[in-house]
Amino acid sequence: MKDHVEEIKHKLSVVDVVGGYVKLERAGKNMRARCPFHNEKTPSFYVSPERGSFVCFGCGAKGDMFTFVERIEGVDFFGALKTLAERAGVELTPTRGDKDKNERSREFEILEDATIFFENELKKNELAQAYVASRGIAPSTVQIMRMGYAPAEWRSLRTYLKARGWSDGEMEKTGLIKRTDKQTSDPFYDVFRDRVVFPIADASGRVVAFSGRIVVDDPKAPKYLNSPETDLYRKSRILYGLDKAKQRIREMDYAILVEGQMDLVMSHQAGLRNTVASSGTALSDEEIRDGEYTGLGLITRLTKNIIIAFDSDAAGTKAALRAAKIAMSLGMDVKVAFARGGKDPAEIIQTEPKAWAQILKEAQPVVEFATERLLEKKLAHKDLHRGIRDEVLPLVATNESALDRSRMLNVVSTMTGVKVSDLEQDIMNITEDRGHVTPSNRIIGMPVENMSREERLERMLFGILYGQNKLNMNGENDIQEVLGAGRLLHYNSLPDIDKSMLATHVETLYGEDGPQLKDKIDMVLNLTLERTKRKRDEIGREMRTAIGSPRGDALLKEFESLSKEMSDITNKLSSRQ
Ligand code: CTP
Ligand code: MN
Repeated sequence: MKDHVEEIKHKLSVVDVVGGYVKLERAGKNMRARCPFHNEKTPSFYVSPERGSFVCFGCGAKGDMFTFVERIEGVDFFGALKTLAERAGVELTPTRGDKDKNERSREFEILEDATIFFENELKKNELAQAYVASRGIAPSTVQIMRMGYAPAEWRSLRTYLKARGWSDGEMEKTGLIKRTDKQTSDPFYDVFRDRVVFPIADASGRVVAFSGRIVVDDPKAPKYLNSPETDLYRKSRILYGLDKAKQRIREMDYAILVEGQMDLVMSHQAGLRNTVASSGTALSDEEIRDGEYTGLGLITRLTKNIIIAFDSDAAGTKAALRAAKIAMSLGMDVKVAFARGGKDPAEIIQTEPKAWAQILKEAQPVVEFATERLLEKKLAHKDLHRGIRDEVLPLVATNESALDRSRMLNVVSTMTGVKVSDLEQDIMNITEDRGHVTPSNRIIGMPVENMSREERLERMLFGILYGQNKLNMNGENDIQEVLGAGRLLHYNSLPDIDKSMLATHVETLYGEDGPQLKDKIDMVLNLTLERTKRKRDEIGREMRTAIGSPRGDALLKEFESLSKEMSDITNKLSSRQ
């Protein structure tokens, strides 16, 4: 992969890549433009053809052509790699072989086929159309959002896809059909039946899953049914509507986050195309710990500003504060829009679109919002103080800037009458507990900088193992050997969330296919080197007290042999470059 990056950088110039998005003018050796990542009148965005990099002295954005495409397109590193590889005419040879890549593109194809099927079925079904219309959704919106309908039959999609040559295995793998445990002649049936279907796409607009809403409310059936998690669909990493919203989010320099599919569809219909939806499930506890890699993390590439506009009931308020906390920990500026009366955005837009615009305009900074919700409860002073400590101050504490924190404390104090000095005392306790650990500088709770290189390598290798089922080094599953049985056990006993975080960490560094064989071997060699070094240093320390004795001689021998091992590994490493 490193080779691909180099090849692409060699074939494309950063000036051409950036120049495809912004108008550049010459400024001595460099090129200059108005920064596409923040609003400015005088240009402070520079591109250096010599160094192949860009930097904005206004907002601090900087990087190479890959970083640029990531940010401007709102995609991850792999998305940028794909885009640029295509432009450069570089063929990406996947590490896990062409077979997997083909499999993956076939998965996108079958999901596309299913989308078309659902779209056509909606055109045929008047009842479903009437339902969609009753929710205030216009035909043009149906078309833009590619909404569809899954017929009220057990196998309509399956029959259709089968006729088009897809196998049951492919349909099952993409979450379109399910297998029943019962003994029948035909165990497979459609997952989506008699539901209005919303296709869920990844950031580049490829359908990866579906969400189906029941047409006639039924207390026995879930209102929304979503595709199961699949290779292509990791719920926590997808925001519904992001593919359609990303451009607008960048242009407007803020995003609106709503909860539901209907909220999203109606927002886009009303022209608020910088709206994305968390789809209820997307913001779990998992994400608070792993925030960097979630849907919200995708937004931070496009803007730092977000308005959270969830349902105005108790559950919605709680979810809003939870999302706010994640967003703040990602360094975002968070406001919350609050529609009184328990209505959700979709309903308000449908009945009085003007009111929704006004509610967004009145969005409050999150700390104010949280404080006001507490004040509404009309608590006694002591309970109010406790409420502030538990619900408001943790939000303040996620803010990295001391100045911002103190500004927020002043606001809270003015609103509630609790003394600033008391609030400061409380917040000290929180920040001490937490340390200053943000998602970006930690792997499993521990700051990376406090971790030894050995530990970092071990974690990385385990992440590869966990994410890809095996290390796949020369076909061997030799992780046990590499980490050592005891260490492997130690990692295996981590909670799943920590394991998947390690896997995610590897993916963000190396992409979904993980590192190439060469990189993996390098890691293993480096790990062995670190371990040998640690052992040698221990012996070195022991030697100091044993000089001259027979034990000292034995230690010296061992010291020398470990040193030799180290230089062997170092040689191996440098001859491999
Ligand atoms: N949700 C879900 N599964 C359910 C219920 C809800 O995945 N059984 C998700 C959906 O993404 C839904 C969101 O949670 O849009 C919010 O739930 P809710 O407020 O109950 O639904 P609404 O968006 O109001 O749905 P509608 O307007 O269609 O009634
Ligand atoms: Mn709702």
